[in-house]
This record gives sequence, C-alpha cells and structure tokens, in this order.
Amino acid sequence: MSNYVPIRLSTIRSEKALDFSVYIKLPSKYLLYLNSGDALDEERIESLKERKVKRLYIADIDEEAYLEFLDRALQEFKEDPGPAPDKKASLIAGYASNAIEEVRRDPSSEKAFERTKNAAEGILEVISRDPAVLLELFKHEDDDQEADVLLRSGVKVSTLAMKFAQSLELKKETIHEIGIAALLRDIGATKYPSVYATKTEEHSAEEEKIYRQHPNDTVKALSDREFISEKILKLIQTHEETLAGTGFPGKLTFLTQEEQILSLVSAYDRMVTIDRIHYFEALKTLKIEQVGHYNLELLEKLSKLLVVEGLI
Ligand SMILES: [Fe+2]
Repeated sequence: MSNYVPIRLSTIRSEKALDFSVYIKLPSKYLLYLNSGDALDEERIESLKERKVKRLYIADIDEEAYLEFLDRALQEFKEDPGPAPDKKASLIAGYASNAIEEVRRDPSSEKAFERTKNAAEGILEVISRDPAVLLELFKHEDDDQEADVLLRSGVKVSTLAMKFAQSLELKKETIHEIGIAALLRDIGATKYPSVYATKTEEHSAEEEKIYRQHPNDTVKALSDREFISEKILKLIQTHEETLAGTGFPGKLTFLTQEEQILSLVSAYDRMVTIDRIHYFEALKTLKIEQVGHYNLELLEKLSKLLVVEGLI
C-alpha cells in the first residue's frame, strides 16, 4: 500500500501531461483523480480552486518524478511569455516553497539546495522580465493557506531583497546569493514554529531567547556542506543584525551592503507579515524609533522602491 504526500495545486500547470498519478484526499481514503500521462485542464484546475482544494496528493514513490516535473516546468515557464502574472507567481512561489520545505526536511541534500538556487534565480528572472509578477508574488500569501508563514516570508523577502539589490545595481551573482539566503534564512525556526509565528512584542522572555537562536540554528543545519558558499552562510548568520549592535545573535555593528539589504528587508517583512504592523508604520518605526539600526539612505531607497513598484 502506498503512502501519500501532498503537492501544491499551484505548481501544476494546465495542459501539461503529468508523469505521476494524482489523488484527492477524502475523509476516509485517497481517491485517484488523474492517471499518470494525463493532463489537468484549466477547467478542472478552476473547479478544484472553487472547491478550495489547495493540495493534491501523489504516491510517495512518485515524489522524485514530481520534483523533476517541477524542474522542467520552471525551466519551460521562464522562457514562456504566455502565462498571466498571477499564474507565473503561483508556480514560482510554489516551486520556491517546495524547495525550502525540501531543505528543511533534509539540509544535507544537494539537490534540495540546487532547487532553492533555481527558485531564487527563477524569481529574479521572472520579476525582471515581468514587473507585474512582483506584485503577484506579494499577494501570494492568500493563495495557499496551508503554506506556513515561514515559507511565505521566505518567498516575499527573497523577492523584495533581490529586487532591491537589483535596483542598487549589485552583481547578479550577489543578487542570487541574497535571494538564496533569504529563502533559507529562517529554517532553523522550524523547531519552534509557534514562537516564530507569534508577534515579536508578545514573546515572553523565554520565547524571545528561543527566537533569537534561529540564525545560528539555520547556519548549524546548513554548515559543512561543500555546495553552500561561506557568503550565503554569512548572509544567513547576519540577517537579524543591525548597524547599532542591537541585533542578534552577534550584536554586530558592521554589515556589508548585501548583508544590510537582507537584514533590512527581513526586519521590514517581519513587522508587516508577522507583527501585522501597517507598512507605513513599519517604515516609520525603522526610520525614527530604530534610527541608526539601518543605513538611512538605504532605507529611503527601499521606501521609494516599495512605492514605485506599487507594493505599498
Ligand atoms: Fe530571521
């Protein structure tokens, strides 16, 4: 008897033949929905969405076939100008979320890391070609309610930090490193999801202590892998640091420009996504209450970018 694993409906493109069978979950069993070799047409996808089905299932033995299908879909779709921005955003966010999930399940997997890299490169390529996708990626959080906040924040921070780095004309390789670090930066918090998802101001002293371990916990999970560069690990290690020595875990007072970009965008997203602070208040807090934590010029440029891109 097979075991079943969930897959995201958002990652299945219509009219593409699947090389695995797909099931839907009923209260008492899994029901065969689509045979391997068949394609889901747009109508069936829409009908599943209307029925609020977010996840489909495959047999666990087909997991590798599904991941390879996703790799091919990402490749084809990057070159395809056709799909609407919301479909592009759905697929890329689904691909990136899968990659983060894979890494946190098995941080020693080079393949999972490769997929995270593909995801970051794919996000950058797609938002560079089609600015409307940037906006869609930001709205994405409502698209897959089962995606936990850690995955959603990974995709959003990766997208915004790369867009920001691109606007500052950083090298492509550096932009990719920022994007990869952003996707993976918080996976250490997987062991304490409720602390991670609790508003920062509501943390008890003990919870705050636990929360502040997450950069170290992520680095610990990912270090000593020859396929992950020191630069990426350093970006992850410093993503909660500030220029005023108020960050964690190192209370540093110096950050490189790329480290500042990731730490600033991470702080902004934490305020908006988890602390539920209005973006205007979040930017005001960063500028006034937290003056000195972040480079003011960088902060002004981020505010401007958010306005220009229609993200606030
Ligand atoms: Fe973090």
